[in-house]
Amino acid sequence: MSERIDQLRAEFERDLAAVEAEAGATALRDRWVGRKSGVLTAEMKRLGGLAPEERRQVGQLLNELKTGIEAAIDRLSGEFAVRREAAQLAAERIDVTLPGRREVAGHLHPITLLRQRIEDIFVSMGYQIEDGPEIETEFYNFDALNIPANHPARSRQDTFYLSERLALRSQTSTVQIHAMQRREPPLRVIAPGRVFRRDTPDATHNPMFYQVEGLLVDRGITLGDLKGTIEEFVRRMFGPQTQIRFRPSYFPFVEPGAEIDYSCFKCGGSGCRVCKGSGWIEMGGSGMVHPNVLRGVGIDPEIFSGFAFGLGLDRLCALMYGLDDIRLLYENDIRFLAQFR
Ligand code: PHE
Repeated sequence: MSERIDQLRAEFERDLAAVEAEAGATALRDRWVGRKSGVLTAEMKRLGGLAPEERRQVGQLLNELKTGIEAAIDRLSGEFAVRREAAQLAAERIDVTLPGRREVAGHLHPITLLRQRIEDIFVSMGYQIEDGPEIETEFYNFDALNIPANHPARSRQDTFYLSERLALRSQTSTVQIHAMQRREPPLRVIAPGRVFRRDTPDATHNPMFYQVEGLLVDRGITLGDLKGTIEEFVRRMFGPQTQIRFRPSYFPFVEPGAEIDYSCFKCGGSGCRVCKGSGWIEMGGSGMVHPNVLRGVGIDPEIFSGFAFGLGLDRLCALMYGLDDIRLLYENDIRFLAQFR
């Protein structure tokens, strides 16, 4: 009988040596000590047919064999488990010293970047940022700004009317009125925002564009204050050598009125492509707030005076970034915008 045991042991050793994977170890366990059809289980069942003395002997041998087999399979399974874990660790290893992958984040539009630079300069000069509606009544758009009833700017060819009385604002000067109604002088505000005009789009025009309005009202304000303020602004914006000049001009809500030019930030005034050879770049309109405008919002022009100015952002943006077409600023082409990241 012990021969039979030796034979079984040898057979098991062969089976054991042939196992190559973890699943094989499980199969091996089923085949040898499985409760239903295990080889040893079957041998054990046969014990019942033996004489008592033999049964004891063989039973003992079989039990030893079974313990040995179970231990061998446990060892094998253990080895497979260790190998599996090692392989998993290797596969999932992360190098925590590697730099992280950066998510693609949005970024500010060039017009916004420019607007914020301008805001920062005026805020540091004590100005408050004011906001006003883009849809305006004729009162704010025209009447309160001393624009006469027959003025061409009121025409339906220049202004987007939404109804008899409502229109998209054609200039941020409307916010001057809101600001003076909301606050008591002395006041210093800038109002950046979108404005709308019925222009045919081309390289230098768009029916929607951006302005920054400025307004200062206090006692004893003169044209000198306006010049000094604009000079300070352009020097902070374009550098300390920047010069300005005023050209007399007409806007109904100021008296006197002037167009402001500043010396070209590119060539410094000698003439180049950016300033079209003139050495000067147009900045916008300005002037001393008209007494009629002050009176209209209940400010006594005998006591207070003020200046106002309006800057266009879009052309400035195009000049600064060397764009040959301002429409690029509104098309939201990601290939264009990504350059300002
Ligand atoms: N609102 C004027 C324009 O759009 C500019 C301006 C503002 C002129 C303030 C004078 C004072 O052209």
